[in-house]
Amino acid sequence: MDRYEQVIELAKRRGFLWNSFELYGGTAGFYDYGPLGSTLKRRIEHIWRDLYVIQEGFLEIETPTIGIEDVFVASGHVGGFSDPLCECIKCSEAFRADHLVASIVEVPDTLSNKELDMIIKENGIKCPECGGELGNVYEFNLMFKTTIGPGSGRTGYMRPETAQGMFINFQRLSRFYRDKLPFGVTQIGKSYRNEISPRQGVIRLREFTQAEAEIFIDPRDKKHRDFERFAVTIVNLYSEEGQDNGFVEQMTLGDAVNRGIVAHEFLAYHIALTNLFLQRIGISQAKLRFRQHKRDEMAHYAIDCWDAEIETDRFGWIEVVGIADRTDYDVNAHSKMSKTELAVYVEYDEPRIVTNFMVKPDMGKLGPVFKGKAKAVSEALKILPQEELEKDEITVVIDGEEITVPPDVVEFAEETVKVSGETVVPHVIEPSYGIDRILYCVMEHAFDEEMVVANENDENPEKEERIVLRFKSEVAPVQVAVLPLLTRSELMIPAKEIVMQVRERGLLVTYDDSGTIGRRYRRNDEIGTPYSITIDYQSLDDETVTIRDRDTMMQVRAPIKGISDLLYNLVYKGKKFETSGMPI
Ligand code: GLY
Repeated sequence: MDRYEQVIELAKRRGFLWNSFELYGGTAGFYDYGPLGSTLKRRIEHIWRDLYVIQEGFLEIETPTIGIEDVFVASGHVGGFSDPLCECIKCSEAFRADHLVASIVEVPDTLSNKELDMIIKENGIKCPECGGELGNVYEFNLMFKTTIGPGSGRTGYMRPETAQGMFINFQRLSRFYRDKLPFGVTQIGKSYRNEISPRQGVIRLREFTQAEAEIFIDPRDKKHRDFERFAVTIVNLYSEEGQDNGFVEQMTLGDAVNRGIVAHEFLAYHIALTNLFLQRIGISQAKLRFRQHKRDEMAHYAIDCWDAEIETDRFGWIEVVGIADRTDYDVNAHSKMSKTELAVYVEYDEPRIVTNFMVKPDMGKLGPVFKGKAKAVSEALKILPQEELEKDEITVVIDGEEITVPPDVVEFAEETVKVSGETVVPHVIEPSYGIDRILYCVMEHAFDEEMVVANENDENPEKEERIVLRFKSEVAPVQVAVLPLLTRSELMIPAKEIVMQVRERGLLVTYDDSGTIGRRYRRNDEIGTPYSITIDYQSLDDETVTIRDRDTMMQVRAPIKGISDLLYNLVYKGKKFETSGMPI
């Protein structure tokens, strides 16, 4: 078994992840979260909210997971959100053509469909399932299409990213934030991509959870007010140059911006925030890097993009977060599609005196030349940009007709005015997280196996294998297990009282009285419970309990009075176990 199989086996057995539709044979690209998996996911999302919503102040919205066609035409998804597909002529199995080709011959990353066709023919590539001939490669749109309403209704799509729901609310959001840039908005929710043949289990899902932030910034100044906070943060950067020459550089984000490796402070700030989040939930620094998108792989909307990549045992480095500068692409696209101005009026610190070049149409001269159209020509001239007015031949368009205006019917002037601001279309910085992949990586990085003494409370040196998920306490789906030593009411009743007490403190607690204490410890090690409390007969005499630490298996005795505060401090305040109780 490789590490992926070990983690998935444990995840299924202990109620983290289950194959969806298992009762009916299942289907690729879907996973259910069991009770512990759901809780683990909520813990990860909770920490994400703490950083983005509470600390950064990017409030959350919730928009439909189905979108109308106009939204995705404007965003470019209807036209271009596709992968190359080829089907077996004999058995109809579908394949991602670029992946199939790359698994057989060494080829560049970006190939046209024609080039893929040629490589398939030249190398005699056949269907890996039945050996049949493969049909021509064509583009397959990855959005799930649906119909809104009965009958032929209206075309809709399951959203392929949560982002569009935030862009199309730009006007309302801008007003909510009193038209002051920068402002951010977040959304956590499901997105859908009809992947051609997902063969990577939980790593490539057709229905998945994204946590995205869209931060609307002033395009004229991409400095970040709080960049100092992260200027000294050290990250592993795998820049475009590094990829071409085979090196990853460890450097501070301050240096990365100064050397022009990361385009600007705003992007660098969000690389740092991603780094902080991933380490806080338990991703190891050595297995985390930030890879810059190469020019030819960048999404259609981005000018610079860095992926947080995590190293996994089976799949190597996988992308879990994309941090992109999406420029004004989306806001402009929706502005054009909806025929609505989407922009912010930004006031200057001090009003500025500017000189405007103006046109002064002379109605006395325009009238005789253009007759009934004279007024319209005059209005059209007034809104022409300066470069048009300076041309030898001035033209305006009236009701679709192009009209040339002789130079002797217009006069020009300069006007000095005081302006207090200007209208700008904001640029968008987007950190986009794939929560399901992150959850898998948290499990894989937490997974450990070691040989330990079989009975922790015994002198017997016999050893056995222990599997343990070394989750950070803040992330663990169960933070405290309360275990009466024996199933006797004199131990069970006080144990249940402790459960109530610790729950009231807001910790995730489980009560477990089935099986030997050793088995119960192992069970809790396997689900990553950082602390187990055991109530024994000494507890009845001196009102103390045993607290066992998952990682070291060390046990200390601590008074029942104040136990919930003690556990809270262990879980959330980084209090060290050794100093928290009285050693036995
Ligand atoms: N919003 C970026 C993405 O979904 O890829």
